Amino acid sequence: MEDYLGEEAANVYTKNPKFPPHIAEYVMNRLKKIKGNENFEKFELVVDAGCGNGKSLLDFLPFFQRSIGFDVNENQVRRAKESIKSETATFYVGIEESMLVEDKSVDLLLNVGALHFMDLATFLKECRRVLKSTGLCATYDSSFSRLEVHFPVKNANQKTADGSGILTSYRTTLYRYYIEANHPTAEWLNRYEQIYERVTGFNKERNDDVTYDYNMTLKELKMFFLSFPTFRKHHNLFGEESAPLNIMGEDLKKLVNAEGIDDEKLQLRFTLSMFFLFLYN
Ligand SMILES: C[S@@+](CC[C@H](N)C(=O)[O-])C[C@H]1O[C@@H](n2cnc3c(N)ncnc32)[C@H](O)[C@@H]1O
Repeated sequence: MEDYLGEEAANVYTKNPKFPPHIAEYVMNRLKKIKGNENFEKFELVVDAGCGNGKSLLDFLPFFQRSIGFDVNENQVRRAKESIKSETATFYVGIEESMLVEDKSVDLLLNVGALHFMDLATFLKECRRVLKSTGLCATYDSSFSRLEVHFPVKNANQKTADGSGILTSYRTTLYRYYIEANHPTAEWLNRYEQIYERVTGFNKERNDDVTYDYNMTLKELKMFFLSFPTFRKHHNLFGEESAPLNIMGEDLKKLVNAEGIDDEKLQLRFTLSMFFLFLYN
């Protein structure tokens, strides 16, 4: 269940792509909309709960005088310290209980793709304690929404085919597996819908409108999925031919009449769709 622990998980996460910088700008714009924050150029403190190797926190550093990240996996924290050499950023090994910050000191509490692993009530209790009255808790991540496949051999009528249905089948296979295993990743695949419902004691809003695209090959798409320790573990339960990730790859090739082509020769456009949960006083 705790697929995120250990050195191996930290290694796998290094291959996980970081969000484009406009995602941090989007969160900062939301923070500035809170009454009293409109004119701030630089805020005091951001805390990133479950910061991993710090790649999401990195884009927030310029907006804050101080940044703190914590993560339960000491190997992730070591990587964050190694890669982020900033005098304003500190990292520690810890969990959502008893965050190492003063009461009402935090402008922005981030939780990027980690909340489904945490105890929600404990996280919210700490959120209530540490946030300033003008503070914001921003929880977000992306899930996969669309996939276009380019025809490798020129096709007179069509340049691309819609592979979203094939992507959805793969997602459904994963979802069923995690539901049966009672694994928190099912809630992540569900875009934190239940977590959002369960939040009480805050003003809350969600936004599912932001998307971004990657042009990538099938080889890179497979690497993307394998850069999550949980999905990698699932993939390794199967042989080459029966692995759902590989079946998705073969189906995408068939869709554009490209059976037998190398994975790195199949060009895709992959759309990720963000989900943001914003909590404030
Ligand atoms: C999907 S990764 C996201 C990492 C980082 N937020 C990012 O955006 O790259 C989830 C992280 O949550 C951490 N984590 C899981 N449970 C935790 C807990 N109870 N307290 C702190 N960190 C936790 C894992 O170790 C892992 O680094």
